[in-house]
Amino acid sequence: MKEYDISTYGERAAASYDAMYPTYDEAMIATLAKLARGGRALELGIGTGRIAVPLVEKGIEVHGIDASPLMIEQLRAKSGGENIPVTIGNFADVAASGEYNLIYVVFNTFFALLTQEEQTHCFENVARRLTSEGVFVIEAFVPDLTRFLGNQTTRAIQVTLERVKLDITMLDSVSQRITGQHVHITEQGIKLFPIQLRYAWPSEMDLMARLAGLELKHRWEDWTGRPFTTESQKHISVYERAV
Ligand SMILES: C[S@@+](CC[C@H](N)C(=O)[O-])C[C@H]1O[C@@H](n2cnc3c(N)ncnc32)[C@H](O)[C@@H]1O
Repeated sequence: MKEYDISTYGERAAASYDAMYPTYDEAMIATLAKLARGGRALELGIGTGRIAVPLVEKGIEVHGIDASPLMIEQLRAKSGGENIPVTIGNFADVAASGEYNLIYVVFNTFFALLTQEEQTHCFENVARRLTSEGVFVIEAFVPDLTRFLGNQTTRAIQVTLERVKLDITMLDSVSQRITGQHVHITEQGIKLFPIQLRYAWPSEMDLMARLAGLELKHRWEDWTGRPFTTESQKHISVYERAV
């Protein structure tokens, strides 16, 4: 049996990804464009270019890293996605050339790095690739372990005459790892979209940042810049070089 690795999510999701996630937040694009300050940007886990393509349309030079050649095929098929420079590999290594004003990883993709060591390694490599005024931006959910009853969840996402979509996950709270499947059931059959994540609390990410010589500049609960509070379900964290 093939084990889950860094390309599994993308290779299994690529053909359906844009249909599953057809939209993006305009405020995200505007904020990322502002944070790039006219310089180069690098997206970790660029995928089909859902975020990168509109950012390029704002006039930003965007580069990307992704582990999945099939996701990049989808990016290349899009108008505006043909010429975005992409490195195929593990984004924890940040093996892209040059320096960037903005390095960003959105839509919980930072948690695709499955160990604390890999996540820390990613922060360190990002710090090496930032310009002196550069920023690292992470958008991620705030872990909520109350969602897991008996260390598992089963959630109905969509139930129609034609289709049932379920999210099924299991939690290992020691390794902070969630192993899941998005399950699509139709009369034609069942499709499985496997996903594995290693969640981290904002405070743990701040510590990883500190180990990498970075520090928190902003933490918002959404892309319009609303303040992060104890009620916030996700965070947008902006890190800069520590002085
Ligand atoms: C949820 S998708 C997000 C894509 C895009 N950022 C977006 O918001 O639409 C996650 C992407 O990260 C890629 N990915 C996951 N783990 C990776 C890793 N360790 N190194 C490089 N890419 C990875 C997947 O192939 C996939 O394209």
